Amino acid sequence: MRDHISFFREFRRQFHTTGAVAPSSRYLGRALSSQLADGAAPRRILEVGPGTGAVTRQIIRRLRPDDRFDLVELNEAFVRHLEGRFAGDREFVAVRSQCQVHHCPLEELEADGQYDCIVSGLPLNNFAPDVVQSIFDRLLELLAPGGTLSYFEYMFVRRMRRMTSGRAERQRLAGLDAIIGPVLTEMRFRRDWIFLNMPPAWVQHLRLPEGVAPVPGAAAETGTAQLHRTDGVSADGV
Ligand SMILES: C[S@@+](CC[C@H](N)C(=O)[O-])C[C@H]1O[C@@H](n2cnc3c(N)ncnc32)[C@H](O)[C@@H]1O
Repeated sequence: MRDHISFFREFRRQFHTTGAVAPSSRYLGRALSSQLADGAAPRRILEVGPGTGAVTRQIIRRLRPDDRFDLVELNEAFVRHLEGRFAGDREFVAVRSQCQVHHCPLEELEADGQYDCIVSGLPLNNFAPDVVQSIFDRLLELLAPGGTLSYFEYMFVRRMRRMTSGRAERQRLAGLDAIIGPVLTEMRFRRDWIFLNMPPAWVQHLRLPEGVAPVPGAAAETGTAQLHRTDGVSADGV
């Protein structure tokens, strides 16, 4: 209940970046952290926008002893809330030495390497297209070859907003489609439908194939995420 009150307060104070009235359900948290079920340890894991820690709890339940877990959160009230958890919540305290909370926007995170698994709670559908483009550029830059990026969006939200909004908002949504569509086409390997969440959500799971790197900004400019090979092998595998 304390989490819900804190979350709702931040939703009213910082609607644009909080992007939800309540923390994610445990079902959504489990789907977002599902890519941690397999894979050889030690792994480097990043959670972007942990809020009050609803998804964080599901991630730490899947942490292995040698994994390292970074969290990056913009909102100071949420950072304090998370620090309280790492000081007093049994499950969080048990993994405290493996975890680090960074108080800054993702765009300014000073990472000392790439991540095998990134879980994002950012409310992308609230942002301007150029912001979403720079967020995707940063996320993909931080993702290790073969690594996974899992994020959620509320089901059909862009389609529903398009039907009920004016011209400027429809243009913004078209800009988002132009960025997100190609990224999903080229990198998505799974989508989960989570009905037990308020509102129901899709979890998109993307993988950056080995031997390729994304071209920053390419999705918005060319309609493709333009993965270019970094291992000297041409696109047709020769
Ligand atoms: C929709 S909430 C998700 C919270 C939590 N992951 C959950 O599912 O309950 C979005 C979170 O992203 C954070 N956020 C928004 N923009 C951010 C940015 N640029 N960098 C880091 N965190 C950001 C917000 O402060 C908020 O905690």
